[in-house]
Amino acid sequence: MAARRPSTVYLWELAWILPSIALPISMLTALAVTALGAGITVVGDRGRIDSTKVAEHPLFKEPGVTEIAPGQYEVRLTGQIWSFAPNEIRVPAGSTVHFWATSRDLVHGLLVPRHNVNVMLLPGQISHAQARFDTPGEYPIICHEYCGVAHHTMAGKIIVEAKR
Ligand code: CUA
Repeated sequence: MAARRPSTVYLWELAWILPSIALPISMLTALAVTALGAGITVVGDRGRIDSTKVAEHPLFKEPGVTEIAPGQYEVRLTGQIWSFAPNEIRVPAGSTVHFWATSRDLVHGLLVPRHNVNVMLLPGQISHAQARFDTPGEYPIICHEYCGVAHHTMAGKIIVEAKR
């Protein structure tokens, strides 16, 4: 008895089934490679922190602004529903500001428009960003990750003072 030739319908099914299996497998592989193999992290990643002990961490014990060198300022900042601490930062024009930031509760964002500050504040994560402020004026600090009903009120400001 001669072997039965697969019917045309069977071949068409195979032509669809094989790619539909191969596609998710290749996507999962791509996901695994980028997540685990490519060293990709969230923007501004500078290490881990116990999110239940933020207040005890040397960086965040006293959130605030410190001059660390002439023209260089360090800002230690925490985000929490629905505020930043500190929520007002004053530096002289021409300063470079180094932001160290984390969240005390859930996911927040830290955005200073038109400056190089755009990071997520994640519980358990220290984020870092750095920006230079040359032009005197007021710049908003904005939470740009949705964090609840008062998300839109979560903001602060950077006041860049003219050099005396
Ligand atoms: Cu914090 Cu949105």
